[in-house]
Amino acid sequence: MLLLKNEKLRSMYRTHTCGELRSTNINQEITLAGWVQTIRKFGSITFIDLRDRYGITQLLIGEELNALLNENPLGREFVLQVKGIVSERSSKNANIPTGDIEIKVKSFSVLNKSITPPFTVQDDTDGGDDLRMKFRYLDLRRNEVKKNLELRYSVNRAARNYLHENNFMDIETPFLIKSTPEGARDFVVPSRMNAGQFYALPQSPQTFKQLLMVSGYDRYYQIVKCFRDEDLRADRQPEFTQIDCEMSFVEQEDILNMFEGMIKSIFKQVKGIDYAEKVGRMTWEDAMWNYGNDKPDIRFDMKIANLKSAFKKDGEIIATGELINGAGFGVFDNAETVVAIAVPNCSEYTRKQIDELTDWVKRPQVGMNGMVNIKCNVDGSFKSSVDKFYDEEKLKAIASFANAKAGDLILILAGTEERTRKAISDLRLELGQRLGFRKKDELKLLWVLDFPLFEYAEEDNRWVARHHPFTAPKPDHISVMIDNDPLIENAAEYLKHPYANIKANAYDMVLNGNEIGGGSIRIFQRELQEKMFTALGMSKEEALHKFGFLLGAFEYGAPPHGGIAFGFDRLCSILGGSESIRDFIAFPKNNSGRDVMLDAPSTIDEKQLKELSIQLNVQ
Ligand code: AMO
Repeated sequence: MLLLKNEKLRSMYRTHTCGELRSTNINQEITLAGWVQTIRKFGSITFIDLRDRYGITQLLIGEELNALLNENPLGREFVLQVKGIVSERSSKNANIPTGDIEIKVKSFSVLNKSITPPFTVQDDTDGGDDLRMKFRYLDLRRNEVKKNLELRYSVNRAARNYLHENNFMDIETPFLIKSTPEGARDFVVPSRMNAGQFYALPQSPQTFKQLLMVSGYDRYYQIVKCFRDEDLRADRQPEFTQIDCEMSFVEQEDILNMFEGMIKSIFKQVKGIDYAEKVGRMTWEDAMWNYGNDKPDIRFDMKIANLKSAFKKDGEIIATGELINGAGFGVFDNAETVVAIAVPNCSEYTRKQIDELTDWVKRPQVGMNGMVNIKCNVDGSFKSSVDKFYDEEKLKAIASFANAKAGDLILILAGTEERTRKAISDLRLELGQRLGFRKKDELKLLWVLDFPLFEYAEEDNRWVARHHPFTAPKPDHISVMIDNDPLIENAAEYLKHPYANIKANAYDMVLNGNEIGGGSIRIFQRELQEKMFTALGMSKEEALHKFGFLLGAFEYGAPPHGGIAFGFDRLCSILGGSESIRDFIAFPKNNSGRDVMLDAPSTIDEKQLKELSIQLNVQ
């Protein structure tokens, strides 16, 4: 990715970059500067691959200069400046753009030495993960990593272009703030000038962007760092970046159209992909019902068949089960939920293959006790692991309910609702992966809509906001919230509480089974916001203490507004075809939240602690 015309990259140190010279430059006298990637000696001549951000150029050091090299040997990662003549190579290298030429070096100077690097700084490096993170500045010299950062920068620029064209204004919001709850723990910063008091680092700029709407900046955006103290995974970092946006005088439809437009424009600008079709929409209930998951990967079908369910769909707890109950098979009879998937063309799986899959669902991460299978043989017959309980006719009925064709393998899981639904979703994804249905180069977007406004928190027997407390209920559901007491009298029957049915004016954008963005239409009236805080178990005083500024602002003419934030790192990693967002962050943290290069977090000295009025209580 050249940002400037090559001439603009010239400086007092170089006339060209290491990625620039071609056979059209032959016989020109040039100066290059860069790092020594490899040194190959052949008798009295030496070949050097010189690398910079733009590529690699081969240097040829002939007999006269070679003597100099023998006196002062070069090493890998030395920084060199060389002057020489561009010449045609005798053996060309078609794998690199400069492969037709080499530089006959006339003179060189070592701008800086390097000690031997701890791993080879090349595409297929010999460095392990930990070592590369510790010496991240060397890892970043590698083409692989550089390509990822270049992609990140083009996604950044593409998003900015689109948002700028649509009148969004980039406004910075503070990092030293008071807690903004997004469901994770805050990172806190002690205040020296206010002994015993702490700032929190923002989990997102949520309340600020809403205040900007009150101030009349009707289209805001920011590509901004957010900080969340939560358990880390491949797609989560403690500090990560959002493309954070907010708009005034909009309804959900306006937001969906605007940001569908943004993602498509990013696809086009970054990857040249025309994503012409309208992004599909699915309700949260349908996502859970058909895929067991609120971020379904719709690159492949294999929908879940709900043979029996405790899942609340369309306001009803569906407890069918007539197909499977009463056959005397206790595992199904006693289960809250029984779900199946039909795996295409796998009826000939061997005992060993099925045992392996059964072990897979029994792993603690999935947590099932076992798995039932029905083979829908190509000849139209059936064979199952529960033949004792279900005759051919029943198996046929189950197969038809599960949409299985001859040649498919039906896998069935049974157990408690939450765990079983998650397990079948995991199994579906795993099989989708193994069978090659989740193609990296296929991009499939989806809006998931109509999330529940509240979730039940068992430990405190109260409601928590599923998205965040500033999300508005669907207009038709506002009265349900206002007219009903949030108190849950019977914890076992919380699903029957009217609040369990309230849907949020919220939406997530899903790309290939990953949540890449989420947002909502906001509450903008003080009374409704106060009711929300009460619903979440906050006293009036607590709400005022935490969010008095926002409640106050709502009294000065807050416009209707809504917004969304995209996970920028996630978006980059999916576009770059990688599972891990770390690969797309210049200086990431490891899975324990440590920066192994800086060795952070670390202790601070007594004096600093004293200034901050902090007494440690760590053994
Ligand atoms: P939400 O919490 O859904 O919404 O975050 C928006 C998007 O940010 C990404 N994301 C993360 N990426 C990497 N590491 C993490 N730890 C992490 N956490 C979240 C996800 C997610 O979809 N203020 C609201 C947005 C709004 O309502 O406008 C918010 O932050 O891709």
